[in-house]
Amino acid sequence: MSKKTAAITAVGAYVPDFVLSNKVLETMVETNDEWITSRTGIKERRILKEEGKGTSFMAIKAAEDLINKRGIDPKEIDMLILATTTPDMPVAATGAYVASQIGAVNAFSYDLQAACSSFLYGMSTATSYIESGRYKKVIVIGADKMSSIIDYTDRTTCIIFGDGAGAALFEPSEEGLGLQDEYLRTDGIGREFLKIDAGGSILPPSEETVKNRQHFVQQDGKTVFKFAVSNMADVAEKVMQRNGLSKDDVQWLVPHQANKRIIDATANRMKLDASKVMMNIQKYGNTTSATLPLLLNDYEKQLKKGDNLVFAAFGGGFTWGAAYLKWAYNS
Ligand SMILES: CC(C)(COP(=O)(O)OP(=O)(O)OC[C@H]1O[C@@H](n2cnc3c(N)ncnc32)[C@H](O)[C@@H]1OP(=O)(O)O)[C@@H](O)C(=O)NCCC(=O)NCCS
Repeated sequence: MSKKTAAITAVGAYVPDFVLSNKVLETMVETNDEWITSRTGIKERRILKEEGKGTSFMAIKAAEDLINKRGIDPKEIDMLILATTTPDMPVAATGAYVASQIGAVNAFSYDLQAACSSFLYGMSTATSYIESGRYKKVIVIGADKMSSIIDYTDRTTCIIFGDGAGAALFEPSEEGLGLQDEYLRTDGIGREFLKIDAGGSILPPSEETVKNRQHFVQQDGKTVFKFAVSNMADVAEKVMQRNGLSKDDVQWLVPHQANKRIIDATANRMKLDASKVMMNIQKYGNTTSATLPLLLNDYEKQLKKGDNLVFAAFGGGFTWGAAYLKWAYNS
């Protein structure tokens, strides 16, 4: 009998209506559409504008989209992992609120924070729970309201990030489909180069920290770029080699959407044609935990049962990794 595997059996997504284009950013900071497009590939991003609405609002919408598409009863969900870097509040797990709001009353839930690798790590966690036989329906939601932690006077970060949410349901596969392998890494050296200084236990919030704008994301873009390019390509190549996959065996690269140049470098190392590379950075920017499930949702109709997908991500921490997954359904 073949080993029980964990397959993605449904996806869902939500992005806010408000579009922040490069043209509008030109009126906010000293930048221009040509610079942003050529350096990052981003044309516009979505922003959750409504007062009082946080990451949970988008996560709930994405999960409800998935539940409606798959036609499941939320009471069947055993577990919900909310991958996010922007929880509704520092204390009280946002995932618990999301689970209650979607009617997943039999599920337990928690938040998983690994910056832009959060969803990839969540895939690994969900898979392990399912392979163990303990749970049968696990939802992983990647959701981030990046606009809540971005300084819109800082042109080196505000052009990159956007808001959004995506969700994937993991269920056991008797056909060996789903997650086949993963290679996940971290290196704490990275926290100097991409971080929010204040608001945590080292530097609690104070008038001073607010005045100094220390509650916003700061990054050394060049250093992050360098690490992201080499590490994302390394792990993607490693997963291919380890599983004997040639470029012809891979139908899709599902790369974290941080910068088109980082994605291109990963695809080049894998020798993959651009037609096999999922990309939506032009319309959403970097939505942190949401990039991977948003891609799956956008490309769902093109995916075929048995397709080989290689996921690759890189994020603050540093955190990064790659995974090899066999797609489980035709839609
Ligand atoms: C941020 C990033 C787009 C900057 O691109 P870059 O090619 O490295 O650009 P540099 O930082 O070298 O800046 C080049 C010049 O453009 C300027 N510049 C920076 N942001 C600008 C903007 N939005 N518009 C116009 N000019 C800008 C810089 O000040 C610099 O000017 P100088 O040469 O006079 O000093 C790029 O480094 C990057 O994508 N890094 C990774 C970030 C990331 O992915 N973070 C999330 C990780 S998951």
